[in-house]
Amino acid sequence: TPDPKAVDLRAAIREIPDFPSPGIGFKDITTLLADPVALDAAVRGLAAAARPLAPDVVIGAEARGFLLGPALARELGCGFVLARKPGKLPHTTVRAEYALEYGTDALELHSDAVAHGARVLVHDDLLATGGTARALCELVEQLGGTVAGCAFLVELAFLPGRAALEPRPVHALVTYE
Ligand code: PRP
Repeated sequence: TPDPKAVDLRAAIREIPDFPSPGIGFKDITTLLADPVALDAAVRGLAAAARPLAPDVVIGAEARGFLLGPALARELGCGFVLARKPGKLPHTTVRAEYALEYGTDALELHSDAVAHGARVLVHDDLLATGGTARALCELVEQLGGTVAGCAFLVELAFLPGRAALEPRPVHALVTYE
């Protein structure tokens, strides 16, 4: 297995012009996920960034946070907890709302999913405005957990996601300026 740093993850991500609307260059990670060398390097690269944060558990958001989140958790020797869109989780939940371009959306977390004092790694495939990851942080903190840091496959650094997560540590494997 190659050193994850030696694998060109950027080259494994496909850019789709004008999706979902004109002027947007969509970062399509399906090509990375389908490539066994890139997939392995992504999981191990995220784990290498997250390990110094000493997380107890990894949290990811529906849907694309579920793609690498459980593999990352396993690589770190952690468990994985799910934040889902409203109404999907069967047990008692806590909720965090976040702003969309038009309106709001929300994520829910089982209220017993994060132990008081747990160190939680927030993971998602992509950091854009930071609304989703910030909602994850707020869910963790509502339950008395600590956000050890945030680890993303992709960061769109021309958007203010990193600032939205301050002062929490943020890592991304592939950054678009
Ligand atoms: C995308 C992506 C992140 C989020 C990042 O998810 O997977 O979760 O947007 O954007 P933000 O930093 O501006 O919040 P999307 O909302 O498209 O949902 P999906 O994962 O269900 O496809």
